[in-house]
Amino acid sequence: MSLLDKHKVIERRSFLLLGLTIVVILIGGLVEIVPLFRSETVIEPVEGVRPYTPLELAGQNIYIRENCVVCHSQQIRPLRDEVVRYGHYSLAAESMYDHPFLWGSKRTGPDLARVGGKYSDEWHVGHLIEPRDLVPESIMPSYGFLMKKGARLHDLDKHLKTLRLIGVPYTDEMIENAVKDATVQAVGEERGDIDGLVARYGERVNARDFDGQPDLVSEMDALIAYLQVLGTFVDFKAAKNVEEGAQ
Ligand code: HEC
Repeated sequence: MSLLDKHKVIERRSFLLLGLTIVVILIGGLVEIVPLFRSETVIEPVEGVRPYTPLELAGQNIYIRENCVVCHSQQIRPLRDEVVRYGHYSLAAESMYDHPFLWGSKRTGPDLARVGGKYSDEWHVGHLIEPRDLVPESIMPSYGFLMKKGARLHDLDKHLKTLRLIGVPYTDEMIENAVKDATVQAVGEERGDIDGLVARYGERVNARDFDGQPDLVSEMDALIAYLQVLGTFVDFKAAKNVEEGAQ
């Protein structure tokens, strides 16, 4: 029996053909999809990207709770207009420690992927308290209440531990010192000992009183610590392994 005749056997039995077709598609699907479950194989590591500090994480939690993601995206696409407006397009590695991802899908307000360092802390405080004081036509809600409430810090060690389970490289030391690091970061150099924080998270970590209320680590402190670090991990001028922005 020639190969063609053998194939005839399959083609004449529609259920056999269907069954074998499904098997072939399944194998192809597995080959394509399974490697993507391991992020190491799809995300090229980029120098400078680090896990969030505990205070930044507390800020990210507030960002999630207040649902900023419904109005703000955090992903700059490699399109000319976006790159001109927001800066270098986002790299996969820049959000590899985001759980969940906050890429978003709607821009009622501007993209925030590189908002870190764009404004002063005072600007953010004023803007979050009453956006219309700074941008008269703004439709963003007011978040003044963040000034009054202490940020939730007491269980940050558990948060770091959980993130480590899913692959964020927090060390034992980072987990042990999570609550302390969060407080120190919001107090700053003048009134706290930031050596440990810097040793754990690097020279460039922002440690200061973000909201101008030195006696309270408020939710405002945490949220601004988070906003001020967005998109600042990678030094695009120095990085050689990153191609020029798509200008
Ligand atoms: C109802 C939609 C909406 C929500 C919800 C919202 N924003 Fe906005 N946001 C805007 C709009 C519109 C602007 C542009 C006008 C302005 O600057 O106020 C803006 C601007 C901003 C800017 C300035 C960005 C820039 O590059 O100029 C920041 C920072 C910001 N929002 C942070 C936040 C944070 C943090 C939250 C959650 C606590 C939030 N926003 C929730 C609509 C929203």
